[in-house]
Amino acid sequence: MSINVFEKSRRQVIQASHYLAGGVSSNYRLNISPTPLVIDRAQGPFVFDIDGNQLIDYYLGMGPMILGHSPESVVMAVQKQVERGILYAGQSEIEYEAAELVCQMVPCAERIRFGSSGTEVVQAALRLARAATGRSTIIKFEGHYHGWLDNILWSVAPKTDQAGSENMPNRVPGTQGQDHLAGEHIEVFPWNSLDLLRERLSRRDVAAVIMEPVMCNTSAIHPASGYLEGVRTACTDAGTVLIFDEVITGFRVALGGAQQRLGVTPDLATFGKAIANGFPVACLAGRADLMDMLVSQNVMHGGTYNAQAVCMAATVATLKALSQPGVYACLNDYGQRLMTGLEHALLQAEIPHQIQGFPEIFHIAFGRSSPISDYRDTLSTDKARYVRFTTALLEHGVRALERGAWFISTTHTPDIVDETVDNVRGALASLT
Ligand SMILES: Cc1ncc(COP(=O)(O)O)c(C=O)c1O
Repeated sequence: MSINVFEKSRRQVIQASHYLAGGVSSNYRLNISPTPLVIDRAQGPFVFDIDGNQLIDYYLGMGPMILGHSPESVVMAVQKQVERGILYAGQSEIEYEAAELVCQMVPCAERIRFGSSGTEVVQAALRLARAATGRSTIIKFEGHYHGWLDNILWSVAPKTDQAGSENMPNRVPGTQGQDHLAGEHIEVFPWNSLDLLRERLSRRDVAAVIMEPVMCNTSAIHPASGYLEGVRTACTDAGTVLIFDEVITGFRVALGGAQQRLGVTPDLATFGKAIANGFPVACLAGRADLMDMLVSQNVMHGGTYNAQAVCMAATVATLKALSQPGVYACLNDYGQRLMTGLEHALLQAEIPHQIQGFPEIFHIAFGRSSPISDYRDTLSTDKARYVRFTTALLEHGVRALERGAWFISTTHTPDIVDETVDNVRGALASLT
């Protein structure tokens, strides 16, 4: 595979920045080395950029493209729906079919509501928890991400000198311009420390605990043995609503998400990304008595694009494809093969590293050879060297996220994985 330089992308991003701020539509797409790419098209495991490069893609749209790019069954379902109408501002049978599928698949989903982004359904979850408990305080964890809005963008990636003590982290804003008052009712805790949380919850004044059940946004950290079960019990005892944010893990680590794979059921859960293979669909799922407060107590939830019909067709097609026998075994095999291949290549190159997570979504960090078990462990990893690696990877035909996450799709077959590992060896050889 021959890789041209990324010059056209570089020039177009600069040119576009005269009318589109920074040449991008999300800050997460800024400052990518050697340049944010301009993509021409995508198919299966590949993206094709405007310089004519074909790249094996592990961004996968930041997680959603679990069936690969442009899978036929989803494309056909969407084309068929477009001919029947796009947005009805009313209910549709395809919406009901999608809702029923989610309820069949997800353990906590007695009822659901659809939205358009993970950020948005997290807000609905927090509102419901406050309405149900009559309490205001929300506990979130250092290193966990729940969307970009002011009331929850706290301590996602705090720097060492701002983070405060390990057991009592500071509440660190995520951006300039953030309303400090919006964090008034947020308390930040270290994840995987059950005793601290249990003690705080025993005061019985916390509305909700929200967490990624696997800390995918930071190093794909697994919950410690017994941790989720302990949190579940502590929340139940304290009358606190337990929210799992499964925007990444949902429909990815199992059809029923991390809650199914790890065997712990929250009160509410949020989903997005893999639910519709790239279409903007999210959902809030949970206990019937909580979800029904949207109706009985008129707890407000709205959105012009909620359950837009084309998105619902994509949801149904995606969920049906994911329900086929063997899909998750395949994802697991391909991911495991990739993790093993990468491990060998990095060992051979004598680069200290840590690979962890699930085969379907794992994480690589440089500069560390022991498990990463909390956010503070990530502060000492060698991020600059890892970015040099992902830059070299691009020049060898592989597109992987600079923050270390690797997403797998059903189109990342053993051949593609083996080609990836060969290319990784090439990239490592070119690293200084
Ligand atoms: C765990 C988690 N929650 C919420 C979000 C926000 O979702 P969205 O980007 O769809 O608003 C993300 C996005 O990456 C996420 O990873």
